[in-house]
Amino acid sequence: MNYLNKHLLDVDHLSKDFIYDLMRQTKKIKDGESLNDFSGLDVCALFYEDSTRTKLSFQKACSKLRLNFHNLDIQKSSLNKGESFYNTIKTINSIGMDLFIIRHFSSGAAYFLAKNTNSSVINAGDGSHAHPTQTLSDLFTIFEEEENFEDLEISIIGDILYSRVARSNILGFLKMGSKINILGPKELIPKVIIDIYESIDKSYKNKIKFYEDFEKPILNSNFLMALRIQKERFDTNTNMDFDYHKWKLDMEKINTFNKEVFVMHPGPVNEETEMSHELVHSNRSLISKQVENGVHVRQKIIERLLGNE
Ligand code: CP
Repeated sequence: MNYLNKHLLDVDHLSKDFIYDLMRQTKKIKDGESLNDFSGLDVCALFYEDSTRTKLSFQKACSKLRLNFHNLDIQKSSLNKGESFYNTIKTINSIGMDLFIIRHFSSGAAYFLAKNTNSSVINAGDGSHAHPTQTLSDLFTIFEEEENFEDLEISIIGDILYSRVARSNILGFLKMGSKINILGPKELIPKVIIDIYESIDKSYKNKIKFYEDFEKPILNSNFLMALRIQKERFDTNTNMDFDYHKWKLDMEKINTFNKEVFVMHPGPVNEETEMSHELVHSNRSLISKQVENGVHVRQKIIERLLGNE
């Protein structure tokens, strides 16, 4: 097994064909096709940051695969006695785990773990860097509605600067050949993002566009994805002097510009900030499906990593 098959740290090393295959395999799981049995294998959840949907969906996926799920309660761990991250990893490595699922407030933490363990590692979100299982869940939710990503235009709205979901999703959507519109307060839009993706593939250049107002991107989009404003990641240099409510999605905007569009949000949603309560719970919203699909996608990812597929 090579390094890239052993871990899921971001979506950058996944090919378009691999992702399409993962979508089709996930559909079979969702439709109730056979379950793998990994009895006797051990999974360790290391969540240094809060989580509801990612952690619980991993836990449920592990139960379905008969895996032993061990959660280290970080707040009650020997971290409080001064143990370093490195020594925590080495200690758990000695106890013996087959798979780590890690969420950490520092970008790169999952990569550091992967370098210092013999086990597989899934990145469940590292700082503002990457959240690959959210991206694959979002891709699957879109795939259920529209199988051909090349025909799609997707708008991502809000706090792009501090969002690990934005980084992984932009990369994932571009890989699949979709067009992307980026819009939100200019203080929270990193223009440099375009250079990062240009360095991966020049053909991406024309697939990503930045907007300073709503009309055109919403009119053209098949999917609108709002992002949570990540105040906990703002630093002292972040200019907070913007009107976030200008970027809120609500029924009025949808009905005015594009009644056919689907709305998405990786969650948790700050209702009435990024999106109105009415829209979150409307028939245009795929938010509950994103959460539901997270279980199936995470199950398939674990199967591929532990089953040497
Ligand atoms: N989208 C997401 O990662 O949600 P949680 O923080 O609840 O896991």
